[in-house]
Amino acid sequence: MSGRRVYLETFGCQMNELDSELVAGQLASLGYQFTSRSDEADVVLYNTCSVREQAEQKVWSRLGELRASKADKPEMVVGVLGCMAERDGTDLMNRMPVVDVMCGPAELDKLPSLIDNAVRTRESLVAGDPESASLKSVKASALQGSASRRSGTLAAAEDSLEYLDLSRSVSPIDPVGSIRQSAYVRITRGCNKFCTYCVVPFTRGAEIHRPPSHIIEEVQRLADQGVTEITLLGQTVNHYRFEHDSATQVDGIIQSQKGRAFKGGHTRDPLAGERVTTFADLLYELHEKAPSIQRLRFVTSYPRDFGDDVLEVIRDCPRICRYLHVPAQTGSDRMLKMMNRGYTVSQYDEFVSRAREHLHQPEIGRPLMISGDIIVGFPTETNKDFAQTVDLLERTRYKSCFIFKYSPRPGTVAYDKIPDDIPDAVKRERNNELLAIQNKISDEVSKEQIGAQYDILVEGPSQRQIKAAGLSQRNAKKAAGGGVQLTIGGRSADETEELSVTAVLEQSEGETVQFSGRTDGDQIVMFDAPKETASALPGQIRRVKITDGSGLSLFGDLLD
Ligand code: SAH
Ligand code: SF4
Ligand code: F3S
Repeated sequence: MSGRRVYLETFGCQMNELDSELVAGQLASLGYQFTSRSDEADVVLYNTCSVREQAEQKVWSRLGELRASKADKPEMVVGVLGCMAERDGTDLMNRMPVVDVMCGPAELDKLPSLIDNAVRTRESLVAGDPESASLKSVKASALQGSASRRSGTLAAAEDSLEYLDLSRSVSPIDPVGSIRQSAYVRITRGCNKFCTYCVVPFTRGAEIHRPPSHIIEEVQRLADQGVTEITLLGQTVNHYRFEHDSATQVDGIIQSQKGRAFKGGHTRDPLAGERVTTFADLLYELHEKAPSIQRLRFVTSYPRDFGDDVLEVIRDCPRICRYLHVPAQTGSDRMLKMMNRGYTVSQYDEFVSRAREHLHQPEIGRPLMISGDIIVGFPTETNKDFAQTVDLLERTRYKSCFIFKYSPRPGTVAYDKIPDDIPDAVKRERNNELLAIQNKISDEVSKEQIGAQYDILVEGPSQRQIKAAGLSQRNAKKAAGGGVQLTIGGRSADETEELSVTAVLEQSEGETVQFSGRTDGDQIVMFDAPKETASALPGQIRRVKITDGSGLSLFGDLLD
Protein backbone atom coordinates (compact mmCIF):
# COMPACT_ATOMS: atom_id res chain seq x y z
CA MET A 1 0.00 0.00 0.00
CA SER A 2 2.93 2.36 -0.26
CA GLY A 3 2.44 5.80 -1.70
CA ARG A 4 -1.27 6.23 -0.89
CA ARG A 5 -1.77 9.53 0.84
CA VAL A 6 -4.23 10.11 3.67
CA TYR A 7 -5.78 13.38 4.78
CA LEU A 8 -7.05 13.02 8.36
CA GLU A 9 -8.93 15.85 10.03
CA THR A 10 -10.10 15.69 13.62
CA PHE A 11 -13.06 17.41 15.25
CA GLY A 12 -14.24 17.26 18.86
CA CYS A 13 -12.52 16.33 22.08
CA GLN A 14 -9.16 14.94 23.20
CA MET A 15 -10.53 11.39 22.90
CA ASN A 16 -10.86 11.99 19.19
CA GLU A 17 -7.38 13.48 18.96
CA LEU A 18 -5.99 10.35 20.57
CA ASP A 19 -8.10 8.10 18.34
CA SER A 20 -6.80 9.94 15.28
CA GLU A 21 -3.24 9.51 16.44
CA LEU A 22 -3.76 5.77 16.94
CA VAL A 23 -5.49 5.38 13.58
CA ALA A 24 -2.70 7.37 11.89
CA GLY A 25 -0.13 5.07 13.52
CA GLN A 26 -1.93 2.00 12.22
CA LEU A 27 -2.27 3.37 8.70
CA ALA A 28 1.38 4.47 8.68
CA SER A 29 2.43 0.94 9.59
CA LEU A 30 0.50 -0.27 6.53
CA GLY A 31 2.55 2.09 4.36
CA TYR A 32 0.13 5.00 4.03
CA GLN A 33 1.56 8.50 4.04
CA PHE A 34 -0.08 11.71 5.21
CA THR A 35 -0.86 15.00 3.53
CA SER A 36 -2.23 18.27 4.84
CA ARG A 37 -4.29 18.86 1.66
CA SER A 38 -7.53 16.99 1.15
CA ASP A 39 -7.47 17.64 -2.62
CA GLU A 40 -4.15 15.78 -2.90
CA ALA A 41 -5.25 12.80 -0.87
CA ASP A 42 -6.19 9.30 -1.99
CA VAL A 43 -8.03 8.72 1.28
CA VAL A 44 -9.88 11.50 3.12
CA LEU A 45 -10.89 10.78 6.71
CA TYR A 46 -12.92 12.95 9.06
CA ASN A 47 -12.87 11.95 12.71
CA THR A 48 -16.09 13.57 13.83
CA CYS A 49 -17.90 14.87 16.90
CA SER A 50 -21.61 14.79 17.60
CA VAL A 51 -21.81 16.58 20.90
CA ARG A 52 -23.55 19.67 19.49
CA GLU A 53 -25.29 20.22 16.18
CA GLN A 54 -22.70 22.80 15.18
CA ALA A 55 -19.96 20.17 15.39
CA GLU A 56 -21.86 18.02 12.90
CA GLN A 57 -22.53 20.91 10.55
CA LYS A 58 -18.80 21.46 10.04
CA VAL A 59 -18.49 17.89 8.80
CA TRP A 60 -21.51 18.17 6.49
CA SER A 61 -19.93 21.20 4.85
CA ARG A 62 -16.56 19.45 4.49
CA LEU A 63 -18.31 16.51 2.82
CA GLY A 64 -20.15 18.89 0.50
CA GLU A 65 -16.83 20.45 -0.55
CA LEU A 66 -15.36 17.03 -1.27
CA ARG A 67 -17.86 16.27 -4.02
CA ALA A 68 -15.87 18.31 -6.53
CA SER A 69 -12.49 16.71 -5.64
CA LYS A 70 -13.99 13.28 -5.87
CA ALA A 71 -15.45 13.99 -9.30
CA ASP A 72 -11.89 14.83 -10.46
CA LYS A 73 -10.40 11.84 -8.72
CA PRO A 74 -12.72 8.85 -8.89
CA GLU A 75 -10.40 6.53 -6.96
CA MET A 76 -10.58 8.71 -3.83
CA VAL A 77 -11.93 6.96 -0.73
CA VAL A 78 -13.81 9.03 1.86
CA GLY A 79 -14.36 7.89 5.44
CA VAL A 80 -16.36 9.33 8.32
CA LEU A 81 -15.10 8.12 11.69
CA GLY A 82 -16.00 8.83 15.28
CA CYS A 83 -19.10 9.91 17.15
CA MET A 84 -21.08 11.31 14.22
CA ALA A 85 -20.60 8.10 12.26
CA GLU A 86 -21.93 6.15 15.21
CA ARG A 87 -24.85 8.51 15.83
CA ASP A 88 -26.03 8.95 12.25
CA GLY A 89 -25.32 5.39 11.21
CA THR A 90 -25.65 4.51 7.55
CA ASP A 91 -28.25 7.31 7.05
CA LEU A 92 -25.26 9.56 6.64
CA MET A 93 -23.97 7.49 3.71
CA ASN A 94 -27.37 7.64 2.05
CA ARG A 95 -27.55 11.38 2.45
CA MET A 96 -23.94 11.90 1.35
CA PRO A 97 -23.07 9.40 -1.40
CA VAL A 98 -19.52 10.76 -1.39
CA VAL A 99 -18.91 8.75 1.82
CA ASP A 100 -17.48 5.25 1.30
CA VAL A 101 -16.51 4.11 4.77
CA MET A 102 -17.97 4.73 8.21
CA CYS A 103 -16.48 3.64 11.49
CA GLY A 104 -17.71 4.35 15.02
CA PRO A 105 -15.30 5.22 17.85
CA ALA A 106 -15.76 1.81 19.46
CA GLU A 107 -14.84 0.01 16.20
CA LEU A 108 -11.71 1.85 15.17
CA ASP A 109 -9.57 -1.27 15.38
CA LYS A 110 -11.39 -2.39 12.20
CA LEU A 111 -10.64 0.81 10.30
CA PRO A 112 -7.32 -0.14 8.63
CA SER A 113 -8.88 -3.16 6.93
CA LEU A 114 -12.00 -1.22 5.93
CA ILE A 115 -9.82 1.44 4.32
CA ASP A 116 -7.50 -1.03 2.69
CA ASN A 117 -10.39 -2.95 1.14
CA ALA A 118 -12.11 0.20 -0.06
CA VAL A 119 -8.89 1.55 -1.62
CA ARG A 120 -8.19 -1.70 -3.48
CA THR A 121 -11.75 -2.10 -4.69
CA ARG A 122 -12.01 1.50 -5.86
CA GLU A 123 -8.68 1.26 -7.68
CA SER A 124 -9.68 -1.87 -9.52
CA LEU A 125 -12.98 -0.25 -10.48
CA VAL A 126 -11.19 2.80 -11.83
CA ALA A 127 -8.83 0.58 -13.81
CA GLY A 128 -11.83 -1.15 -15.39
CA ASP A 129 -14.13 1.80 -15.99
CA PRO A 130 -12.81 5.22 -15.00
CA GLU A 131 -15.99 6.99 -16.12
CA SER A 132 -18.36 5.52 -13.61
CA ALA A 133 -15.98 4.21 -10.94
CA SER A 134 -16.68 6.99 -8.48
CA LEU A 135 -20.32 6.02 -8.47
CA LYS A 136 -19.72 2.36 -7.89
CA SER A 137 -20.18 1.29 -4.35
CA VAL A 138 -17.29 0.32 -2.13
CA LYS A 139 -19.36 1.14 0.91
CA ALA A 140 -18.48 -0.46 4.22
CA SER A 141 -19.16 0.38 7.81
CA ALA A 142 -18.29 -0.72 11.32
CA LEU A 143 -20.70 0.66 13.87
CA GLN A 144 -21.49 -0.82 17.24
CA GLY A 145 -25.19 0.03 17.37
CA SER A 146 -26.28 -0.71 20.90
CA ALA A 147 -24.61 -4.12 20.98
CA SER A 148 -22.09 -3.51 23.73
CA ARG A 149 -24.71 -1.95 26.01
CA ARG A 150 -26.84 -5.08 25.98
CA SER A 151 -24.37 -7.62 27.33
CA GLY A 152 -23.70 -7.68 31.04
CA THR A 153 -20.07 -8.72 30.87
CA LEU A 154 -17.36 -7.73 28.51
CA ALA A 155 -16.96 -10.39 25.85
CA ALA A 156 -13.46 -10.92 24.52
CA ALA A 157 -14.44 -9.73 21.06
CA GLU A 158 -15.62 -6.43 22.49
CA ASP A 159 -12.23 -5.72 23.93
CA SER A 160 -10.61 -5.75 20.50
CA LEU A 161 -10.40 -1.97 20.76
CA GLU A 162 -7.80 -2.46 23.47
CA TYR A 163 -5.46 -3.68 20.74
CA LEU A 164 -5.64 -0.27 19.13
CA ASP A 165 -4.37 1.44 22.29
CA LEU A 166 -1.78 -1.29 22.76
CA SER A 167 -0.57 -0.87 19.18
CA ARG A 168 0.51 2.68 19.77
CA SER A 169 3.44 3.32 17.51
CA VAL A 170 4.50 6.82 18.35
CA SER A 171 7.58 8.57 17.22
CA PRO A 172 9.47 10.81 19.61
CA ILE A 173 9.86 13.30 16.79
CA ASP A 174 6.60 14.97 15.93
CA PRO A 175 5.78 16.13 12.41
CA VAL A 176 6.98 19.70 13.02
CA GLY A 177 10.41 18.37 13.85
CA SER A 178 10.42 19.35 17.50
CA ILE A 179 10.71 16.85 20.30
CA ARG A 180 7.32 15.41 21.08
CA GLN A 181 6.54 16.35 24.64
CA SER A 182 2.87 15.72 25.37
CA ALA A 183 0.68 12.68 24.91
CA TYR A 184 -2.79 11.50 25.81
CA VAL A 185 -3.33 8.10 27.39
CA ARG A 186 -6.79 6.61 27.73
CA ILE A 187 -7.77 5.06 31.05
CA THR A 188 -11.50 4.53 30.45
CA ARG A 189 -13.68 4.35 27.38
CA GLY A 190 -17.35 5.22 27.11
CA CYS A 191 -19.67 6.61 29.75
CA ASN A 192 -22.45 5.24 31.93
CA LYS A 193 -23.80 8.54 33.20
CA PHE A 194 -26.54 9.27 30.67
CA CYS A 195 -26.83 12.98 31.34
CA THR A 196 -30.09 13.71 29.54
CA TYR A 197 -28.59 16.10 26.97
CA CYS A 198 -25.53 14.02 26.03
CA VAL A 199 -24.80 11.71 23.08
CA VAL A 200 -21.53 10.33 24.43
CA PRO A 201 -22.97 7.22 26.17
CA PHE A 202 -24.58 6.31 22.83
CA THR A 203 -21.62 7.08 20.58
CA ARG A 204 -18.81 5.77 22.78
CA GLY A 205 -20.73 2.96 24.44
CA ALA A 206 -20.55 1.55 27.94
CA GLU A 207 -17.91 2.65 30.42
CA ILE A 208 -14.90 0.35 30.20
CA HIS A 209 -11.77 0.50 32.35
CA ARG A 210 -8.42 -0.46 30.88
CA PRO A 211 -6.13 -2.79 32.84
CA PRO A 212 -3.72 -0.76 34.99
CA SER A 213 -0.71 -2.71 33.72
CA HIS A 214 -1.49 -1.65 30.13
CA ILE A 215 -1.83 2.00 31.14
CA ILE A 216 1.41 1.95 33.13
CA GLU A 217 3.34 0.26 30.32
CA GLU A 218 1.99 2.74 27.79
CA VAL A 219 3.05 5.70 29.95
CA GLN A 220 6.49 4.17 30.52
CA ARG A 221 6.94 3.59 26.79
CA LEU A 222 5.99 7.19 26.02
CA ALA A 223 8.35 8.38 28.76
CA ASP A 224 11.18 6.34 27.21
CA GLN A 225 10.46 8.08 23.92
CA GLY A 226 10.97 11.50 25.50
CA VAL A 227 7.41 12.48 26.38
CA THR A 228 7.36 14.68 29.50
CA GLU A 229 3.65 15.42 29.89
CA ILE A 230 0.85 12.86 30.01
CA THR A 231 -2.88 13.62 30.11
CA LEU A 232 -5.02 10.70 31.18
CA LEU A 233 -8.36 10.59 29.39
CA GLY A 234 -11.82 9.44 30.40
CA GLN A 235 -15.32 10.94 30.50
CA THR A 236 -15.39 10.47 34.27
CA VAL A 237 -11.75 9.68 35.07
CA ASN A 238 -12.23 9.59 38.83
CA HIS A 239 -14.56 6.59 38.46
CA TYR A 240 -11.61 4.48 37.39
CA ARG A 241 -11.59 1.16 39.26
CA PHE A 242 -10.08 -2.16 38.21
CA GLU A 243 -10.89 -5.30 40.21
CA HIS A 244 -8.01 -7.75 39.89
CA ASP A 245 -9.96 -10.68 41.35
CA SER A 246 -12.40 -10.60 38.48
CA ALA A 247 -9.87 -9.83 35.75
CA THR A 248 -9.93 -12.19 32.77
CA GLN A 249 -7.34 -12.94 30.12
CA VAL A 250 -7.64 -13.85 26.47
CA ASP A 251 -4.49 -15.08 24.68
CA GLY A 252 -2.44 -13.86 27.62
CA ILE A 253 -3.81 -10.33 27.38
CA ILE A 254 -5.68 -8.91 30.37
CA GLN A 255 -9.12 -7.71 29.33
CA SER A 256 -10.65 -4.34 30.19
CA GLN A 257 -13.55 -4.27 32.64
CA LYS A 258 -17.02 -2.80 32.47
CA GLY A 259 -17.57 0.05 34.91
CA ARG A 260 -19.67 -0.92 37.91
CA ALA A 261 -21.86 1.29 40.06
CA PHE A 262 -19.32 3.57 41.70
CA LYS A 263 -18.67 2.50 45.28
CA GLY A 264 -16.02 5.02 46.25
CA GLY A 265 -16.76 7.70 48.80
CA HIS A 266 -14.68 10.46 50.24
CA THR A 267 -12.33 8.01 51.88
CA ARG A 268 -10.04 5.34 50.64
CA ASP A 269 -11.59 2.25 49.08
CA PRO A 270 -11.05 -0.58 51.66
CA LEU A 271 -10.24 -2.96 48.80
CA ALA A 272 -7.65 -0.60 47.32
CA GLY A 273 -4.14 -1.87 46.85
CA GLU A 274 -3.61 -5.43 45.79
CA ARG A 275 -7.17 -6.41 44.91
CA VAL A 276 -8.47 -3.20 43.40
CA THR A 277 -6.69 -0.42 41.55
CA THR A 278 -8.63 2.77 42.24
CA PHE A 279 -8.07 6.08 40.48
CA ALA A 280 -5.95 7.20 43.46
CA ASP A 281 -3.84 4.01 43.17
CA LEU A 282 -3.43 4.46 39.43
CA LEU A 283 -2.25 8.07 39.78
CA TYR A 284 0.20 7.09 42.51
CA GLU A 285 1.60 4.16 40.56
CA LEU A 286 2.05 6.22 37.42
CA HIS A 287 3.81 8.92 39.41
CA GLU A 288 6.17 6.40 40.99
CA LYS A 289 6.80 4.20 37.96
CA ALA A 290 7.35 6.90 35.34
CA PRO A 291 9.58 9.44 37.11
CA SER A 292 10.64 11.14 33.88
CA ILE A 293 7.05 12.30 33.32
CA GLN A 294 7.23 15.86 34.66
CA ARG A 295 3.54 16.59 34.35
CA LEU A 296 0.70 14.16 34.95
CA ARG A 297 -2.80 15.51 34.23
CA PHE A 298 -6.23 13.99 33.80
CA VAL A 299 -9.59 15.02 32.29
CA THR A 300 -12.56 15.02 32.83
CA SER A 301 -13.40 14.75 36.52
CA TYR A 302 -16.94 14.08 37.63
CA PRO A 303 -17.86 16.33 40.56
CA ARG A 304 -19.44 13.53 42.58
CA ASP A 305 -17.52 10.50 43.89
CA PHE A 306 -14.20 12.33 44.05
CA GLY A 307 -12.48 10.90 47.10
CA ASP A 308 -10.05 12.58 49.50
CA ASP A 309 -7.72 9.70 48.67
CA VAL A 310 -7.31 11.14 45.15
CA LEU A 311 -6.79 14.66 46.50
CA GLU A 312 -4.14 13.36 48.93
CA VAL A 313 -2.24 11.59 46.16
CA ILE A 314 -2.27 14.77 44.06
CA ARG A 315 -1.08 16.80 47.07
CA ASP A 316 1.75 14.39 47.90
CA CYS A 317 3.04 13.77 44.37
CA PRO A 318 5.00 16.73 43.04
CA ARG A 319 4.62 15.79 39.38
CA ILE A 320 0.82 15.45 39.43
CA CYS A 321 -0.64 18.77 38.31
CA ARG A 322 -2.76 21.03 40.50
CA TYR A 323 -5.38 21.28 37.83
CA LEU A 324 -8.94 19.93 37.73
CA HIS A 325 -11.40 20.12 34.87
CA VAL A 326 -14.64 19.50 36.68
CA PRO A 327 -17.76 20.69 34.85
CA ALA A 328 -20.76 21.89 36.89
CA GLN A 329 -23.03 22.38 33.78
CA THR A 330 -25.40 24.68 35.73
CA GLY A 331 -25.82 26.38 39.10
CA SER A 332 -29.47 25.39 39.47
CA ASP A 333 -30.54 22.26 41.37
CA ARG A 334 -33.68 22.03 39.29
CA MET A 335 -31.63 22.00 36.06
CA LEU A 336 -29.09 19.53 37.50
CA LYS A 337 -31.94 17.17 38.25
CA MET A 338 -33.42 17.51 34.77
CA MET A 339 -29.96 16.95 33.34
CA ASN A 340 -29.61 13.76 35.45
CA ARG A 341 -26.25 14.93 36.71
CA GLY A 342 -26.58 13.08 40.01
CA TYR A 343 -25.32 15.84 42.35
CA THR A 344 -26.66 19.05 43.86
CA VAL A 345 -25.19 22.53 43.69
CA SER A 346 -24.16 22.32 47.35
CA GLN A 347 -22.39 18.99 46.68
CA TYR A 348 -20.54 20.67 43.81
CA ASP A 349 -19.57 23.59 46.06
CA GLU A 350 -18.48 21.16 48.75
CA PHE A 351 -16.23 19.38 46.27
CA VAL A 352 -14.65 22.61 45.08
CA SER A 353 -13.90 23.78 48.62
CA ARG A 354 -12.59 20.35 49.63
CA ALA A 355 -10.31 20.33 46.57
CA ARG A 356 -9.06 23.84 47.38
CA GLU A 357 -8.51 22.90 51.04
CA HIS A 358 -6.28 20.00 50.03
CA LEU A 359 -4.57 21.40 46.96
CA HIS A 360 -4.52 25.20 46.87
CA GLN A 361 -0.99 26.05 48.09
CA PRO A 362 0.11 29.34 46.52
CA GLU A 363 2.70 29.70 49.32
CA ILE A 364 4.72 26.85 47.79
CA GLY A 365 4.08 28.13 44.26
CA ARG A 366 1.30 25.62 43.62
CA PRO A 367 -2.13 27.23 43.49
CA LEU A 368 -5.00 24.95 42.42
CA MET A 369 -6.55 25.93 39.09
CA ILE A 370 -10.03 24.70 38.21
CA SER A 371 -11.80 24.85 34.88
CA GLY A 372 -15.37 23.97 33.99
CA ASP A 373 -18.12 23.57 31.42
CA ILE A 374 -21.56 25.22 31.55
CA ILE A 375 -24.63 24.65 29.39
CA VAL A 376 -27.04 27.59 29.02
CA GLY A 377 -30.59 27.39 27.73
CA PHE A 378 -31.36 23.84 28.79
CA PRO A 379 -35.15 23.37 28.43
CA THR A 380 -37.29 25.36 30.90
CA GLU A 381 -34.26 27.30 32.21
CA THR A 382 -35.71 30.41 33.87
CA ASN A 383 -34.04 33.72 34.66
CA LYS A 384 -33.80 32.46 38.22
CA ASP A 385 -32.01 29.25 37.18
CA PHE A 386 -29.70 31.32 35.04
CA ALA A 387 -29.00 33.76 37.89
CA GLN A 388 -27.97 30.76 40.02
CA THR A 389 -25.48 29.76 37.30
CA VAL A 390 -24.10 33.31 37.33
CA ASP A 391 -23.66 32.96 41.11
CA LEU A 392 -21.90 29.62 40.70
CA LEU A 393 -19.48 31.10 38.19
CA GLU A 394 -18.75 34.04 40.47
CA ARG A 395 -18.08 31.96 43.55
CA THR A 396 -16.18 29.11 41.85
CA ARG A 397 -13.75 31.42 40.07
CA TYR A 398 -12.62 29.03 37.34
CA LYS A 399 -9.39 29.91 35.63
CA SER A 400 -11.35 29.22 32.43
CA CYS A 401 -14.73 27.79 31.56
CA PHE A 402 -16.31 26.54 28.35
CA ILE A 403 -19.84 27.86 27.92
CA PHE A 404 -22.18 26.07 25.51
CA LYS A 405 -25.66 26.79 24.25
CA TYR A 406 -27.86 23.74 24.74
CA SER A 407 -28.13 21.77 21.52
CA PRO A 408 -30.82 19.07 21.39
CA ARG A 409 -29.29 15.78 20.22
CA PRO A 410 -31.45 13.09 18.62
CA GLY A 411 -31.45 9.89 20.64
CA THR A 412 -30.98 11.54 24.04
CA VAL A 413 -33.64 11.62 26.75
CA ALA A 414 -33.87 15.42 26.64
CA TYR A 415 -34.44 15.36 22.88
CA ASP A 416 -37.22 12.82 23.17
CA LYS A 417 -38.93 14.04 26.33
CA ILE A 418 -38.20 17.72 26.96
CA PRO A 419 -39.06 20.27 24.25
CA ASP A 420 -36.22 22.69 23.40
CA ASP A 421 -38.25 25.71 24.51
CA ILE A 422 -35.61 28.38 25.12
CA PRO A 423 -35.38 30.63 22.04
CA ASP A 424 -31.96 30.85 20.43
CA ALA A 425 -31.82 34.60 21.09
CA VAL A 426 -32.15 33.94 24.84
CA LYS A 427 -29.53 31.18 24.71
CA ARG A 428 -27.19 33.57 22.92
CA GLU A 429 -27.81 36.37 25.40
CA ARG A 430 -27.16 34.08 28.39
CA ASN A 431 -24.10 32.65 26.67
CA ASN A 432 -22.67 36.13 26.08
CA GLU A 433 -23.42 37.25 29.62
CA LEU A 434 -21.60 34.26 31.09
CA LEU A 435 -18.68 34.71 28.69
CA ALA A 436 -18.29 38.32 29.81
CA ILE A 437 -18.38 37.32 33.49
CA GLN A 438 -15.92 34.47 32.96
CA ASN A 439 -13.55 36.66 30.92
CA LYS A 440 -13.42 39.11 33.79
CA ILE A 441 -12.78 36.31 36.31
CA SER A 442 -10.08 34.72 34.12
CA ASP A 443 -8.41 38.11 33.82
CA GLU A 444 -8.53 38.60 37.60
CA VAL A 445 -7.19 35.08 38.24
CA SER A 446 -4.33 35.83 35.82
CA LYS A 447 -3.52 39.14 37.52
CA GLU A 448 -3.47 37.41 40.93
CA GLN A 449 -0.41 35.46 39.72
CA ILE A 450 1.74 38.57 39.22
CA GLY A 451 4.86 38.35 41.37
CA ALA A 452 4.68 34.56 41.75
CA GLN A 453 7.40 32.21 40.51
CA TYR A 454 6.33 29.10 38.64
CA ASP A 455 7.97 26.16 36.98
CA ILE A 456 6.64 26.05 33.47
CA LEU A 457 6.84 23.36 30.84
CA VAL A 458 8.02 25.11 27.69
CA GLU A 459 5.94 24.27 24.62
CA GLY A 460 7.46 26.26 21.77
CA PRO A 461 7.55 29.66 20.09
CA SER A 462 4.45 31.71 20.97
CA GLN A 463 1.67 32.27 18.43
CA ARG A 464 2.77 35.89 18.12
CA GLN A 465 6.34 34.84 17.38
CA ILE A 466 5.29 32.33 14.73
CA LYS A 467 3.10 34.91 13.02
CA ALA A 468 5.91 37.44 13.19
CA ALA A 469 8.13 34.86 11.48
CA GLY A 470 5.70 34.97 8.57
CA LEU A 471 4.04 31.58 8.99
CA SER A 472 0.33 31.26 8.38
CA GLN A 473 -2.20 31.19 11.19
CA ARG A 474 -3.15 27.57 10.54
CA ASN A 475 0.44 26.49 10.52
CA ALA A 476 1.15 28.70 13.52
CA LYS A 477 -1.38 26.76 15.49
CA LYS A 478 0.31 23.52 14.57
CA ALA A 479 3.84 24.73 15.28
CA ALA A 480 2.89 25.98 18.71
CA GLY A 481 0.81 22.97 19.55
CA GLY A 482 3.48 20.52 20.65
CA GLY A 483 2.71 16.89 19.98
CA VAL A 484 -0.93 16.11 20.30
CA GLN A 485 -2.75 18.56 18.09
CA LEU A 486 -0.58 17.63 15.17
CA THR A 487 -2.70 14.83 13.88
CA ILE A 488 -5.31 17.48 13.13
CA GLY A 489 -5.25 18.23 9.47
CA GLY A 490 -2.72 15.53 8.71
CA ARG A 491 0.96 15.99 8.19
CA SER A 492 3.33 16.39 5.32
CA ALA A 493 7.04 16.50 4.71
CA ASP A 494 7.11 20.08 3.39
CA GLU A 495 5.45 21.35 6.55
CA THR A 496 8.00 19.55 8.66
CA GLU A 497 10.66 21.84 7.35
CA GLU A 498 8.63 25.01 7.34
CA LEU A 499 7.32 24.63 10.85
CA SER A 500 10.34 23.46 12.82
CA VAL A 501 11.35 25.54 15.82
CA THR A 502 14.64 26.20 14.06
CA ALA A 503 12.79 27.64 11.08
CA VAL A 504 10.80 29.96 13.33
CA LEU A 505 14.01 31.09 15.01
CA GLU A 506 15.77 31.67 11.69
CA GLN A 507 12.93 33.77 10.38
CA SER A 508 12.60 35.89 13.54
CA GLU A 509 14.26 39.26 13.89
CA GLY A 510 15.91 40.55 17.08
CA GLU A 511 18.01 39.08 19.87
CA THR A 512 15.17 37.39 21.71
CA VAL A 513 12.19 35.27 20.73
CA GLN A 514 8.88 34.89 22.54
CA PHE A 515 8.13 31.39 23.80
CA SER A 516 5.11 29.97 25.56
CA GLY A 517 4.69 27.28 28.17
CA ARG A 518 2.27 26.17 30.86
CA THR A 519 2.20 26.20 34.63
CA ASP A 520 1.17 23.02 36.38
CA GLY A 521 -2.21 24.70 36.90
CA ASP A 522 -2.46 24.79 33.08
CA GLN A 523 -2.07 28.55 32.72
CA ILE A 524 -0.32 29.78 29.59
CA VAL A 525 2.87 31.82 30.17
CA MET A 526 4.70 33.90 27.54
CA PHE A 527 8.33 34.84 28.06
CA ASP A 528 11.27 36.10 26.03
CA ALA A 529 14.29 33.87 25.57
CA PRO A 530 17.71 34.68 24.11
CA LYS A 531 17.75 33.43 20.53
CA GLU A 532 20.96 31.42 20.86
CA THR A 533 19.61 29.18 23.63
CA ALA A 534 15.98 29.07 22.51
CA SER A 535 16.06 25.98 20.32
CA ALA A 536 16.77 23.75 23.33
CA LEU A 537 13.82 25.09 25.35
CA PRO A 538 10.81 23.06 24.13
CA GLY A 539 10.12 20.24 26.58
CA GLN A 540 12.20 21.78 29.38
CA ILE A 541 10.83 22.81 32.77
CA ARG A 542 11.99 26.37 33.50
CA ARG A 543 11.39 28.77 36.36
CA VAL A 544 9.66 32.00 35.45
CA LYS A 545 8.69 35.06 37.47
CA ILE A 546 5.24 36.33 36.50
CA THR A 547 5.30 40.03 35.61
CA ASP A 548 1.87 40.51 34.06
CA GLY A 549 -1.41 38.76 33.36
CA SER A 550 -4.15 39.49 30.90
CA GLY A 551 -7.14 37.39 29.86
CA LEU A 552 -6.01 33.78 29.77
CA SER A 553 -2.30 34.61 29.40
CA LEU A 554 0.46 35.26 31.88
CA PHE A 555 3.74 36.99 30.99
CA GLY A 556 7.00 36.38 32.78
CA ASP A 557 10.80 36.57 32.94
CA LEU A 558 13.03 33.51 32.72
CA LEU A 559 14.87 33.15 36.03
CA ASP A 560 17.57 30.60 35.26
N1 SAH B 1 -17.80 13.78 30.42
C1 SAH B 1 -17.65 15.17 30.54
C2 SAH B 1 -18.14 15.97 29.36
C3 SAH B 1 -18.04 15.49 27.98
S1 SAH B 1 -18.90 16.43 26.75
C4 SAH B 1 -18.42 15.62 31.77
O1 SAH B 1 -19.45 15.09 32.09
O2 SAH B 1 -17.97 16.55 32.38
C5 SAH B 1 -18.16 18.03 26.94
C6 SAH B 1 -19.11 19.11 27.30
O3 SAH B 1 -20.00 19.36 26.24
C7 SAH B 1 -20.01 18.83 28.48
O4 SAH B 1 -19.37 19.06 29.71
C8 SAH B 1 -21.16 19.77 28.25
O5 SAH B 1 -20.94 21.01 28.88
C9 SAH B 1 -21.18 19.95 26.74
N2 SAH B 1 -22.32 19.31 26.12
C10 SAH B 1 -22.59 17.99 26.04
N3 SAH B 1 -23.76 17.78 25.41
C11 SAH B 1 -24.24 19.00 25.06
C12 SAH B 1 -25.41 19.44 24.38
N4 SAH B 1 -26.33 18.58 23.95
N5 SAH B 1 -25.57 20.78 24.18
C13 SAH B 1 -24.65 21.65 24.65
N6 SAH B 1 -23.53 21.29 25.29
C14 SAH B 1 -23.33 19.97 25.50
FE1 SF4 C 1 -21.98 13.07 28.71
FE2 SF4 C 1 -22.65 13.13 31.25
FE3 SF4 C 1 -21.13 11.14 30.36
FE4 SF4 C 1 -20.13 13.60 30.56
S1 SF4 C 1 -20.82 12.32 32.26
S2 SF4 C 1 -19.93 12.21 28.81
S3 SF4 C 1 -21.86 14.88 30.04
S4 SF4 C 1 -23.24 11.55 29.79
FE1 F3S D 1 -17.60 14.81 20.55
FE2 F3S D 1 -17.58 12.22 20.79
FE3 F3S D 1 -15.81 13.68 22.07
S1 F3S D 1 -19.36 13.48 20.67
S2 F3S D 1 -16.93 15.55 22.47
S3 F3S D 1 -15.98 13.47 19.89
S4 F3S D 1 -16.77 11.85 22.81
